[in-house]
Amino acid sequence: MAEHPTEAAPPPPTHEKREHWSGQTAFILAAIGSAVGLGNIWRFPGQAYEHGGGAFMIPYLVALLTAGIPILFLEHAIGHRFRGSPPLAMKRVHRHAEGVGWLHVAICFVIGLYYTAILAWALSYFFFSFSLAYKDDPAGFFTSDYLQLGEAGTFSTSFVPKVIIPLVAMWAVTIVILALGLHKGVERLNIVGIPVLVATFLVIVVRALFLDGAADGLDALFTPDFAALKDPQVWIAAYGQIFFSLSLAYGIMITYASYRRRRSNLTAPGLVVAFGNSSFELLAGIGVFATLGFLAHREGVGVGELDGIAGPFLSFVTFPATIAEMPGGAFFGALFFASLVLAGLTSLVSVLQVVSAALQDKLGLKPRTAAVLVGGTSAVLSIVGFGTTTGLYLLDTVDNWSNQLGIVAGAITMIAAAVWLGRRGHELERHLAAVSTLRPGRAWLWLVSAVALLLIYMFVDKAVTLAIDGYGGYPTWYLVVFGWGTVVFLALVAFLMPFLKWRRDISRFHPWPSREQLNLPADVGERHTEDYDPRGRS
Ligand code: ALA
Repeated sequence: MAEHPTEAAPPPPTHEKREHWSGQTAFILAAIGSAVGLGNIWRFPGQAYEHGGGAFMIPYLVALLTAGIPILFLEHAIGHRFRGSPPLAMKRVHRHAEGVGWLHVAICFVIGLYYTAILAWALSYFFFSFSLAYKDDPAGFFTSDYLQLGEAGTFSTSFVPKVIIPLVAMWAVTIVILALGLHKGVERLNIVGIPVLVATFLVIVVRALFLDGAADGLDALFTPDFAALKDPQVWIAAYGQIFFSLSLAYGIMITYASYRRRRSNLTAPGLVVAFGNSSFELLAGIGVFATLGFLAHREGVGVGELDGIAGPFLSFVTFPATIAEMPGGAFFGALFFASLVLAGLTSLVSVLQVVSAALQDKLGLKPRTAAVLVGGTSAVLSIVGFGTTTGLYLLDTVDNWSNQLGIVAGAITMIAAAVWLGRRGHELERHLAAVSTLRPGRAWLWLVSAVALLLIYMFVDKAVTLAIDGYGGYPTWYLVVFGWGTVVFLALVAFLMPFLKWRRDISRFHPWPSREQLNLPADVGERHTEDYDPRGRS
């Protein structure tokens, strides 16, 4: 005899086919793979060193706890509940918020263009390491022999084959991984890549710790300069580092969470990702500075007197200079650049998956078609922009604007749309509580709003500073075209893309989780009785 349901009928099926992670471990590894990247290996050590050494750990930890983890939870909640790439998920958060999602997509698109160029350099350096080709003059080798650097503040159309060949190779690998789809491509890359990366990096760090002078390097990194804490720029740098490094505010965590199944713990894995990323960051800092201590020891100078401790020069000049001096340098160098390629590749794939997922959602494309379209277009632009003799300057400029302004704007608009305009804060809080073992509580929402206010201050401060002081000594026309031009591009994508028609039916949607399908225990069920209108605000 048929049973009569005692409760209201379950919501209609969504009719949306979406790829899924094979399990929680696969998701955690992919999210760690996204977070751990160039930001950890080359950005963090330089940032910490420049902004107060050991004292930087204080704003860094404050930024992790007050902004990193709360915003990570917010993105996990938005992605999981509204199941979409950033434009689709944000449209479901509020009907006028689709543009926020496109802002995230545009940031990913821009980051993908230059991130691949750095990976191409690292791939070349992996091969150069076997013969220590950079041994005699690491700085000259990088800027003249390899990049064939032209004049700063110009845009050249002379291509550099030595850069273009590895660049094409990196794009080919990335397109193949994306085209294989979430399960066979992205997931497998991370399941194999992350354990290999951690093991390789541990070997590098242990080796570095036994070098002469390693302790001096660690002293330079960790000796606190507490006066630095009074400088707002140090705090801004710490928040910037957390956002870039944890892959926050450019849609990656929304996209990755959208592939999780209905019954998915969101907060505990979020903490694993956040602390895993910071641990790797610390490990990278220790490895890099122990090695720099060795170089300083050899040259009989203090670590602070070494040139090129920040930006690309740390990885491609100072580090090779050190490798060339140490016993077993060829092996150590190859291992270091292989780690850089692997860590970067797992991040790059996550960055481009956002763009690919957005096109799949909006245009109804298959993963393979979207991957080829996104990868092919990006590859051409990336070669034109960064495969030339002025690629390094362009990279420096675009990276500065997209990070310092783009990502910050991505965070502010996301919080404003979800919490202030869409008033989804409590709903997202209940969502996290319903599916997770660790419940975030009300303080979480307060923190998220407070962070947005702080970010508005940072955004204005940075925009004014860039407008008045310029950047990097480049001419004004150059910064207007390539720096502010990047911001204009991001804004145009955010404003215009929502006008494009959705090629798929996105209306038959019901936010997760429903009480029946989650089979919630009574007490959790009582807290989660909201009845959702699928047509409501989506
Ligand atoms: N989160 C990535 C990194 O740290 C993008 O490089």
